Amino acid sequence: MRKIYLKEIEKYDGKEVLVEGWIRNKRSSGKIQFLILRDGTDEIQAVAFLPNIGEEKFKLCEQLTMESSVKISGTVRPDKRAPSGYELDITDIEILQIADEFPIQKKEHGVTFLLDNRHLWLRSRRQNSLLKIRHTVYYAICEYLNQNGFYRFDSPILTPNACEGTTTLFEVPYFDEGSAFLSQSGQLYLETGIMSLGKVYDFGPTFRAEKSKTRKHLTEFWMMDAEMAFVEHKKNMKIQEDLIRFVIRYVLEKNMNELEILERDIAQLKKADAPFKIITYKEMIEILQAKGSKIKYGDDMGAQEEEMLTDDSDVPFFVEKWPKEIKAFYMKLDRENPDLSLCADLIAPEKFGEIIGGSEREDDYDVLKSRMAEENMTIKEYQWYLDLRKYGSVPHSGFGVGLERLIGWMSGVKHIREAIPFPRMINRLTP
Ligand code: 4AD
Ligand code: MG
Repeated sequence: MRKIYLKEIEKYDGKEVLVEGWIRNKRSSGKIQFLILRDGTDEIQAVAFLPNIGEEKFKLCEQLTMESSVKISGTVRPDKRAPSGYELDITDIEILQIADEFPIQKKEHGVTFLLDNRHLWLRSRRQNSLLKIRHTVYYAICEYLNQNGFYRFDSPILTPNACEGTTTLFEVPYFDEGSAFLSQSGQLYLETGIMSLGKVYDFGPTFRAEKSKTRKHLTEFWMMDAEMAFVEHKKNMKIQEDLIRFVIRYVLEKNMNELEILERDIAQLKKADAPFKIITYKEMIEILQAKGSKIKYGDDMGAQEEEMLTDDSDVPFFVEKWPKEIKAFYMKLDRENPDLSLCADLIAPEKFGEIIGGSEREDDYDVLKSRMAEENMTIKEYQWYLDLRKYGSVPHSGFGVGLERLIGWMSGVKHIREAIPFPRMINRLTP
């Protein structure tokens, strides 16, 4: 008999097949038991009918508890009422294990309980859908980069110094060096990569000892950093827009089912596939002030302002040219107004906020060096980075996409902790 996966069930209409999986749920009435069987790819109602399978197998079915593991053989039968359009008439069943009482039941559970049981919570329909969307988003990003000539360039995780300022570094003991730091972003290394390969990206876990307890902060999150030689600020934003719209279309194509399970407003997501506007930091401050915020020119944006700024927008937009004091040392200064950095944050709509940070990079040796001095950085430690401005410096730009933020916005989850298998936050290191 053919072992199949439920996602391809329609190919086996009328055939007898074998499915291996878990029992999500069960109900019975007299001579008939209905088992909701899931195999990771999808779910189906499997019907155990006493006259078909005999007393012995029927009794086995009665023992099944939620999450018990089974091998079920059955005949695929069309059923209009079923979500997948099919049911399975059981012909045989083998029980692999009868599960103990599953801690996560249908009732509402508190979030601490769910996070303590994350290893089991992952099986729920919602979490299964989020994991599938994560898979698609990851793949779509790589696909876009591959189609557009980027080389994958794996930057290190253990690093001797900071990329995004020293306040959020995780320090680990490191032999004779004393300490190493977990990477906050591979960007500085990618800048070395473009001088060899032109366009590069990395994609992996990054770490920030963030004290922020918002719905958008993790201490370990995944970032895709892209970096491009001969690309300036405006073009950099255009490429980000292209990438994000590519990802939206990809998810809409692959994950309609999952978006529905998550009750995502799909019309809203479709609206986001439109040209992205650009506003300046100064304009942003004026908009926020007009909406009643106390924010002043020179302040960074907090979670509250991000919500306020985006509550009436449908399409992501860029906020460009921030005061250099609140942005990173490596950003190129605007030659028309050297108090500003040639950078942009991409802000997702619907009260979400920042999903990408990017900029053109300072390519002048002396300007960069004095910027680093202003930030009290130890020049010697970054000499390798400065070297890039000595040996064939070129205009270049890049950006970093926060994977969980992108997934969080696209799937409409309240907190991005659900967008990663095992979230790490200030108060959460287990399981
Ligand atoms: O804006 P950030 O700090 O930019 C950088 O790290 C640059 N070096 C990237 C680059 O130019 N290559 O971080 C980039 C993105 C943010 O826009 C956000 O989406 C995400 O990473 N991010 C976080 N996601 C979850 N939890 C956190 N604590 C995050 N901090 C940043
Ligand atoms: Mg940022």
